[in-house]
Amino acid sequence: MLTEGKVLEILHSIEDPFLHKTLEETGGVEEIKIKEEKNHVSVKILIGKTNTAEQMELQQTIVNALKSGGAATVGLRFDQLPDEVIQRFQPEAEQEQEASLLGGNSGTKFISIASGKGGVGKSTVTVNLAVALTRLGKKVGIIDADIYGFSVPDMMGVEERPVVRGEKIIPVERFGVKLVSMGFFVEDNSPIIWRGPMLGKMLTSFFKEVEWGDLDYLLLDLPPGTGDVALDVHTMLPSSKEIIVTTPHPTAAFVAARAGQMALKTEHEILGVVENMAYFESRETGNKEFVFGRGGGVKLAETLQTGVLGHVPLQQPYEEEDVFAPSVYQADHPIGVIYRNMAAKVIDKY
Ligand SMILES: Nc1ncnc2c1ncn2[C@@H]1O[C@H](COP(=O)(O)OP(=O)(O)OP(=O)(O)O)[C@@H](O)[C@H]1O
Ligand SMILES: [Mg+2]
Repeated sequence: MLTEGKVLEILHSIEDPFLHKTLEETGGVEEIKIKEEKNHVSVKILIGKTNTAEQMELQQTIVNALKSGGAATVGLRFDQLPDEVIQRFQPEAEQEQEASLLGGNSGTKFISIASGKGGVGKSTVTVNLAVALTRLGKKVGIIDADIYGFSVPDMMGVEERPVVRGEKIIPVERFGVKLVSMGFFVEDNSPIIWRGPMLGKMLTSFFKEVEWGDLDYLLLDLPPGTGDVALDVHTMLPSSKEIIVTTPHPTAAFVAARAGQMALKTEHEILGVVENMAYFESRETGNKEFVFGRGGGVKLAETLQTGVLGHVPLQQPYEEEDVFAPSVYQADHPIGVIYRNMAAKVIDKY
């Protein structure tokens, strides 16, 4: 069992990656909370610069250190040190632009798309929300963080591969959205059997070695469920807000609630719930049939104390001859309009 003193001792020896001083010197340990019955340690750390690849590495260092010290689970939040402190430790030093995530653009907002179980439409929501945000004038990227079950390139109809320029990977762009996926680095769609550490490396590279440029939003399509992979990914992400996708069935919403709890445990605020496959609307009569049940989205939002961003019915995008993107809804498609409204809500909230 870790005591607060021990946690402090562990944290104090860790260095702020920007100021190159220990957290003891910078006074970067803002808060420590220990839930004894669960052996859960939650800490808030102040550093020189947030939302960077360095922060992500630091996050892993801290989580590993606290787990080695005896914590079962670790919750971590980052915030920026007060300007005076940063200036004190970083006298006339220029900003370390080059190494930081997204080329020093810390204004990027991260949104992770999670679900309690597979096949509920996470990837579809990720892709269409990204496209809708772009249509509203935002600069958007997607990390297909479903490293084992990547599907975003196929859904967007991406056939090209990213090119490497110098040390950096240039993401593929489709409908104005920049995309990186494990699918780009696997030959012939062969299955991937990597385990945890490799996963961490891959994700870190997606942040660090990809030339994202200037982004407003970076969306992360998470692996399904609440298993180890999903938890690792949650833990590795820099401060991100989450969208939880569910189907309307009350049981599905119950399972999705676990994904929500996981988000909260990793200190990720929940932006809202998307209820996908909410109903089927007959084109002839306009009649709505609630084929997968009803009320799951609202119930889940209540459980997680958030709101429903949108109810997306069952329907395929229009078929087009010249554009191949099997899962992208056109701007004037009824579901395209729903995504547009959701994107507007997201912009409003975050
Ligand atoms: N609203 C919808 N209407 C019709 N089909 C849909 C809808 N949403 C998703 N689908 C289809 O359902 C399937 C599963 O969707 P998707 O791959 O987005 O789910 P997922 O949660 O990402 O799955 P996984 O857990 O495997 O990553 C896909 O074939 C997708 O095209
Ligand atoms: Mg998926």
